[in-house]
Amino acid sequence: MEHTVVRPFEDADLAGAAAALTEVHATDGYPVEGVQRPEAWLRSADVMAAWVGELDGAIVGHVAVMRPHGEDAVSMWVRQSGEREDRIAVLARLFVVKAARKHALGESLTQAAMSYGREHGLRLVLDVMTKDTAAMRLYERLGWQEIGRTSHRYGDGQSIDAVCYAAPDA
Ligand SMILES: CC(C)(COP(=O)(O)OP(=O)(O)OC[C@H]1O[C@@H](n2cnc3c(N)ncnc32)[C@H](O)[C@@H]1OP(=O)(O)O)[C@@H](O)C(=O)NCCC(=O)NCCS
Repeated sequence: MEHTVVRPFEDADLAGAAAALTEVHATDGYPVEGVQRPEAWLRSADVMAAWVGELDGAIVGHVAVMRPHGEDAVSMWVRQSGEREDRIAVLARLFVVKAARKHALGESLTQAAMSYGREHGLRLVLDVMTKDTAAMRLYERLGWQEIGRTSHRYGDGQSIDAVCYAAPDA
């Protein structure tokens, strides 16, 4: 029987999480802009908290809660709700390698981030590319509500459709 764990990110997890991210980019094109420096992308200064998912002792997934940094989902939610930006955080950097999917690791990682949001009085928002349909199903299953649509710009003038979501009330 396979053994799954979700736990807070530790410094020693960086290489494993970076390898998992490189794998997910190869299989799913996530993130669309590519990952030239996976370690730096995972440990950006905007990260407030992060978790990893393990399958049989190997790091296979990751999620982070991040400070707002000009995301459309944040400005949409501020406009719609009147909540202050310093009460909002962004769920980001969610991924699970293909071989470890459908073990509810994506769900447990998302729930870890949602618990953190509730404990810290932070409303979580996010954006997801419409091509990432498994992720959209996951968020909707956990009660996230669509708050608008946008397009994610990257590279030299490319853009891709995205949906913005807000987490359910605590
Ligand atoms: C989105 C993502 C993180 C989901 O990871 P995951 O670990 O497979 O997520 P879960 O296992 O919780 O749920 C996935 C599916 O498995 C199903 N599942 C969960 N546990 C299961 C089990 N024990 N047996 C069978 N199915 C199971 C879920 O019901 C869900 O079904 P669905 O696809 O019909 O909706 C993963 O697909 C991924 O990394 N995608 C690429 C990157 C990406 O899009 N990231 C999001 C950016 S916003």
